[in-house]
Amino acid sequence: MTGTAEQPSATGPAEVTLDEVVALCKRRGFIFQSSEIYGGLGSIYDYGHYGVLLKNNVKGEWWRTVVGERDDMVALDAAILMHPRTWEASGHLEGFTDPMVDCRTCKLRFRSDKLEDAACGRQPSKHPGETEECDLTEPRQFNLMFETFMGPVRDDAAKVYLRPETAQGIFVNFKNVLQFARKKPPFGIAQIGKAFRNEITPGNFIFRTREFEMMEIEFFVPPGEADAWHQRWMEDRMRWHTELGIRPDHLQLRKHGPDELSHYSSATSDVEYLFPMGWSELEGIANRGDYDLSRHAEFSGEKLEYFDQEKGEAYVPHVIEPSLGVDRSLLAFIVDAYETEEVEGRKRTVLRLDPRLAPVKAAVLPLVSKAGMPEKAREIYEQVRRQVPAEYDEGGSIGRRYRRQDEIGTPWGITVDGQTMEDDTVTLRDRDSLEQVRVPADGLADRLAARLAEPWRSPKLD
Ligand code: GLY
Repeated sequence: MTGTAEQPSATGPAEVTLDEVVALCKRRGFIFQSSEIYGGLGSIYDYGHYGVLLKNNVKGEWWRTVVGERDDMVALDAAILMHPRTWEASGHLEGFTDPMVDCRTCKLRFRSDKLEDAACGRQPSKHPGETEECDLTEPRQFNLMFETFMGPVRDDAAKVYLRPETAQGIFVNFKNVLQFARKKPPFGIAQIGKAFRNEITPGNFIFRTREFEMMEIEFFVPPGEADAWHQRWMEDRMRWHTELGIRPDHLQLRKHGPDELSHYSSATSDVEYLFPMGWSELEGIANRGDYDLSRHAEFSGEKLEYFDQEKGEAYVPHVIEPSLGVDRSLLAFIVDAYETEEVEGRKRTVLRLDPRLAPVKAAVLPLVSKAGMPEKAREIYEQVRRQVPAEYDEGGSIGRRYRRQDEIGTPWGITVDGQTMEDDTVTLRDRDSLEQVRVPADGLADRLAARLAEPWRSPKLD
């Protein structure tokens, strides 16, 4: 038996604003400002329950695709603190800088190459330098690495850095992995971990933060194959985003111009997403050549090469690096999934997330909190949660509970009603179509697990 208990009547605005996303993330406990009771800490965020679940699912899908489903990749989890020579060798001590200017009038600091994106401290409708009062210093290079000290003495010899990218943990372990993983180029090392950048102008919610998480691959290839692998990785990574529901017309590849390239890169293309603030980098795919391995070999005195037995020659592999921010990826998934529509005269906000990413897959809801329905619903919930992440909710009207689940992107709602008590069937509500079908409670967990394994297509594409 099928029915449509709720009828959408009109779709809302086509695109979401960043303020709406921020509000939803706070309202539903995805993301909070760090240390909020003290007024917050600049561009640092904490993840609440649903944020953690969503983030884990994003990372899980990345691991599954880049490690679980490949034979040419191994995992690594390197430490955040590294020997300080690492950052000399990598070029970050010298080259990981942004040009900044200070305004002597408003005492604010700006990136001198991004003045057009910043607001004057005294007259926010103007850019820094545009008013007569503005008094900007000459640009100075500002290193983005956070420093700290190891051990009891606070002097230069004890200085260490919070890593600004996870990549270097991979390069310094190249020899270890080569020995123990029994791999030969082309092969890759994948890692997820925190990184830190003391950005002068962070912003746009979790798009650019000072503490963030990265999903990075360093893929080691014979030098002559680097261009082909670079191309292949661009295609693979574009596909990952779209297979998880990002609309293809909201993604593009953009090649860096020579003036934009990082100090280690000979060619980089960004996967850009159409965020509310415009096209912005989601993932960078760089050809790092032999820069990193050669520099670490030079600074450490270790040989970081691969000896090709068949050819009888050693070479320094070249590196292709697909590098994706976890927080940025999560933001893109939320933005892309966000939709508002009117259902029976009331606004509904829904996250049309791929079920694989949804923090909760199924909500089990007794229609009312009486007549044995809560007990029956709990019994069903206990079965369902063994196979798919589920939630039980009996508080408030059924309409409010559906809306709550819609806002966190739960694809399926299971409602226990009077008929359940008679014939052991429940209604299964689809988040996107709002269709409700009556199905036996028996076998429901298997049915949902099977649905989760099926390919999913965003209704926003129709
Ligand atoms: N490892 C790439 C980046 O730092 O952006």
